[in-house]
Amino acid sequence: MHESVRRIAINTGGGDAPGLNAVIRAVVLSALQRGWECVGIRDGYKGLLEPEAYPEGGTINLTRDSVRGITHLGGTILGTTNRGSPIAYPVLDENGEWVEVDRSDELVDKLKALNIDALVAIGGDGSLAIANVLSEKGIRIIGVPKTIDNDLAETVVTFGFDSAVTFAAEAVDRLHSTAEAHDRVMVVEVMGRYAGWIALHAGVAGTADAILIPEIPYDIERVADRVRQRVARGRDFAIIVVAEGAHAIGGERSVVGKAVGQQERLGGIGHRVADQLAELTGKETRTVVLGHLLRGGGPTTRDRILALRFGSAAVRGIAEGRDGCMVALDPPTVRYVPLSSAIARMKTVPLDCDTMQTARDLGISFGD
Ligand code: F6P
Repeated sequence: MHESVRRIAINTGGGDAPGLNAVIRAVVLSALQRGWECVGIRDGYKGLLEPEAYPEGGTINLTRDSVRGITHLGGTILGTTNRGSPIAYPVLDENGEWVEVDRSDELVDKLKALNIDALVAIGGDGSLAIANVLSEKGIRIIGVPKTIDNDLAETVVTFGFDSAVTFAAEAVDRLHSTAEAHDRVMVVEVMGRYAGWIALHAGVAGTADAILIPEIPYDIERVADRVRQRVARGRDFAIIVVAEGAHAIGGERSVVGKAVGQQERLGGIGHRVADQLAELTGKETRTVVLGHLLRGGGPTTRDRILALRFGSAAVRGIAEGRDGCMVALDPPTVRYVPLSSAIARMKTVPLDCDTMQTARDLGISFGD
């Protein structure tokens, strides 16, 4: 058994995902129930690294009242950021230029000064890689896998994914009638940097004609063929779902920019595909970019349950003396996996998985 716990901290990092508040509620109530105190860090680690930015303090004492009525709410009551990695923290140097500085030792000192016995870090690959560094520097930590992209390894699914897919599939459903009414090709761009989980699931559920994912570089001619075949069969419209990280064979991902301390921003692939299909098929095309709509709004029931289970399991793990691990869904249970293995690889779509086979059996093209 680990030394006794009196005070834990919790933070949310990276892009938000539906279910964050449900995790926070479960962590706080499970901790309070054990007689522990619970401290929330604002905006990833910014609340500790730049406390002067917060007139009311960079940390919040989380009570029963703080987490009342938040299970169904989107966003995060703690705030989040995807440009505040303590390992590459953006600061202005003496020449007024932004540079990235490693502030992780300072962060470790601040957590210790606050008498934090353990930290629950809720985040995706980037946030959990940071958690792993903090763990190696002596902070007791349990990660909770969050991302709408579902690209974290060692867990069957991340929370947030179901909410994103549910919304994307509904959007695809809605586009069918307008596509058919106008005899158009509708291209729907969804998030999914390195993995095509959202595109695959929304495309299969929404009966798309083609799904383009980062795992399978596409040949636009093959996609155009699929549209032509439909037209030849008297179906004069088509729906193409494209993940933002998809790219043509031999081509590059479509990048719109990069700010200091942030990863590259993707975007534009939907328009590129639509323009090429218009040229190749002669059909009128339109593009719908779902983007951050996929991250907004409340969690589905499935995500609420998963998030609550993850939050409660994180606190149980701390009580059991676990450290340096991540809670992971392994139906029918939640288990603990080392943080190092969760971040060791990206969970991309296995090309031989049964959902891919199902899609192909249904005649959906992947542009290959
Ligand atoms: O949460 C992951 C993700 O949704 C990626 O698919 C996307 O590229 C990224 O977030 C965009 O994040 P932001 O616009 O907040 O920088």
